Amino acid sequence: MIDPQHFTQCLLAWYTTNGRDLPWRKTEDPYVIWISEIMLQQTQVPRVAEHFYPRFLEAFPTLEALSEASWEDVYPVWDGLGYYRRGKNVLKAAKVLMQKHAGILPQTQEALEALPGIGAYTATAIRAFALDHKVPAIDTNISKIVETLWPNKDTKEIAHELVEAASSGRDWNNAMMDLATALRSGETIPGDLGIFFTKELSEKFLPKRKSKPKSKSTKNKKRRKHVIEVGIACIWKDGKYLIQTRPEGKSFTGNWEFPGGKREKGEDIRACVKREIKEEIGIDVSVRPAFFEKLWDFDKIQLLLKFHRCQIQRGEPEALEKQELRWAAPAEFDSIEFLKTNHEALAILKNMKM
Ligand code: ADE
Repeated sequence: MIDPQHFTQCLLAWYTTNGRDLPWRKTEDPYVIWISEIMLQQTQVPRVAEHFYPRFLEAFPTLEALSEASWEDVYPVWDGLGYYRRGKNVLKAAKVLMQKHAGILPQTQEALEALPGIGAYTATAIRAFALDHKVPAIDTNISKIVETLWPNKDTKEIAHELVEAASSGRDWNNAMMDLATALRSGETIPGDLGIFFTKELSEKFLPKRKSKPKSKSTKNKKRRKHVIEVGIACIWKDGKYLIQTRPEGKSFTGNWEFPGGKREKGEDIRACVKREIKEEIGIDVSVRPAFFEKLWDFDKIQLLLKFHRCQIQRGEPEALEKQELRWAAPAEFDSIEFLKTNHEALAILKNMKM
């Protein structure tokens, strides 16, 4: 087995001369790093670095400036990035930070995750990049490196060992991201670090080549679709479940559904449910393991829906996304127009002992 400590030494030596010069690496301001991380979740590094990041910081150079803005002020600066919910959450969190945290981003994983729009990955990234904590911000890039070099080992465990061996959590995470980028673009890794990446292993990082156009009959059948995981909360209280109409801006509005949303990169599915419910309904919930999972095959994507029973830990439900909310007893389910994708979960809940 490759010695994690030795790997980290080689990685950091390589990073010293091969690391990328990115604008958010010139600062340790947690506000700025938070904004860059949210943008980088959805948009590629060059576009963020050259366009969205400088434009946003020019308009809102400080947390205080952002906290005084309205969505009408932020929208034109966020426009083009897409994922407007993330922009709205950044604004909401800025206000919470000024009102409840004296304008300072908290330093613990838990307190960061309690802020709107900050999931486990982003909280860890803020800790690593702004506070230099020795924690691995495990995204698909870091997972790929660890899984390739340490197959059959626990990715999280190895990643923690690797970062622990570094002198700086910030440098280690930056170096891993840069290494993944270099491998993906087919660069040969020089020096001692290059020894780990044989030709055969390096090829695993190359983007999959687009296959030749297929004949009409096989074209659609063979194409691999992107699977999006969705965490769904069946929040239960006094024999009733909390349901909502589809929030504004989504498809199929008007129908009822259980609340929830898409899992973010590297996020645990139960953490996703917790975060989505906090964002959409403003309450803290405890989340049980999924009682039902179902893969839905749509035209271009596949949705893997995971239904979890949940209970309220803190707060009163509030419709934060202009949706309608109500409590429904299982005996009422048949008279309510639900999204088709919820039907099987509803049938299971109807037969479940409470
Ligand atoms: N992707 C997510 N966070 C990043 C960062 N800090 N640098 C480069 N790419 C990233």
